[in-house]
Amino acid sequence: MNVDLETALPALTELLTAHLEAERDEPVRLPRDPDTLRAQLDLTLPERGVGFAQVVDELHAILRATPSTATPRFFNQLFGGRDGAAILGEALAAVLNNSMYTYKVAGIQVLIELELIRRMGAMVGYQDPEGVFCPGGSLSNLCGMALARDRVVPTLSERGSYGQTLRVYTSTESHYSIRKAAAILGIGRENVVRIPVDEHGAMQPPALRAAIDADQAAGYQPILINATSGTTVLGAFDPLPALADIAEDKGLWLHVDAAYGGSLLFHPDLRAHFEGIERADSVTWDAHKIMGVPLTCSVFLARKKGTLTQSLNETATYLFQDDTDDLNPGTRSLQCGRRNSALKLWTAWRTHGDEGYTERVTRLRDNTLYARDKVISHPELRLVREPVSLNLCFSVKSAPADALCTTLNEQGRAMVGHAIVDGEPVVRLVFLDPTLNPSDIDTFFSEVLTVARALRAAAPGEGSP
Ligand SMILES: Cc1ncc(COP(=O)(O)O)c(C=O)c1O
Repeated sequence: MNVDLETALPALTELLTAHLEAERDEPVRLPRDPDTLRAQLDLTLPERGVGFAQVVDELHAILRATPSTATPRFFNQLFGGRDGAAILGEALAAVLNNSMYTYKVAGIQVLIELELIRRMGAMVGYQDPEGVFCPGGSLSNLCGMALARDRVVPTLSERGSYGQTLRVYTSTESHYSIRKAAAILGIGRENVVRIPVDEHGAMQPPALRAAIDADQAAGYQPILINATSGTTVLGAFDPLPALADIAEDKGLWLHVDAAYGGSLLFHPDLRAHFEGIERADSVTWDAHKIMGVPLTCSVFLARKKGTLTQSLNETATYLFQDDTDDLNPGTRSLQCGRRNSALKLWTAWRTHGDEGYTERVTRLRDNTLYARDKVISHPELRLVREPVSLNLCFSVKSAPADALCTTLNEQGRAMVGHAIVDGEPVVRLVFLDPTLNPSDIDTFFSEVLTVARALRAAAPGEGSP
């Protein structure tokens, strides 16, 4: 009926030891189709339990079938590597199981969360911020849009959105969560105006101003400018001072989606891209991306204390009883029950300090530049854009990026993503794992070239390069 921790912990150690060993032998798991997996592993939920020992055996097989995301061959997403300090915090949070809505049930864990919010707020230049940990950057962005809407149309959350024609502005390179949040909030996807970007992938302020002017003349109600600090594909930064000027002129909310890029505030040079962020009304910052904290760990920050509470607080006499609202984060969260995402970030940050993170992001950027030099010095590779931060978009002559990435994965050589830039498929290589060294990067490119040559040789009417 229940398995105690004393029984589970040795099983965890045994599973992890086997998993880490297997990962070394097979850094890219060969993709397996769902039907084969279902045929090989019984995933059904039985009437009578199979017992813990059998489940541990089954978990060995499940781990062997799970894609690897923390090996030197993984470049596919905006996270990578593995930080033992953060994992320790994550494991303890699961054991402690405090729900982060009240001080009564979470105690010192709330103080840890508040300290992180204070510190991350200070890093973006907020004097007295309000904030909350969210289950991911998408929901942090949703928070930003909800607050913007509630400031401009305070009656809307009570009376609904019917008849309002609100407008939101974001770049063509911004994350899809902005459109999704507009759909959820009753603003409508059609009312998300996508502003063109320059050759680096940064929003063009004159085009933004023109779009807002045109909408106002046509009777729309603009509410929010979403700036992105670290775009998903190119890693680009929107020009915050110019966008903050427009937001102030027009009385609009400025939200900065720094879900991806926020941690580059630790980088001695790249932090210059954040100039003006302290003028934003709110910021999204994911620690589960560049800081290497296990998923998910996203912080939403509002510049002015009280804004989150004003939009999201509810009366719940059975829950919010003792302590001030300050100590009850549930009064400013989209969620009720909420897992503790703060302890793992605190454990890692206490361990490494600001200096450790500066070292980390410096290493990530150095690796990106090393890879960039490899691309420009090789005749078969083409650099699509100078890398602004940690994303390197490149293509391989006569080998389509989508087929290349699929084959790399299918052959167990590397897991890396592809995207579209200037209408063409490109390989999007991202550097998120600080343990990677130049020889891992050399290996990656040698795998890329091997597969590209094989694809070219196999293409009808093609021979060698
Ligand atoms: C710029 C940007 N914003 C938001 C998100 C969404 O973050 P999450 O995956 O934590 O929901 C991403 C994810 O890649 C992103 O790149």
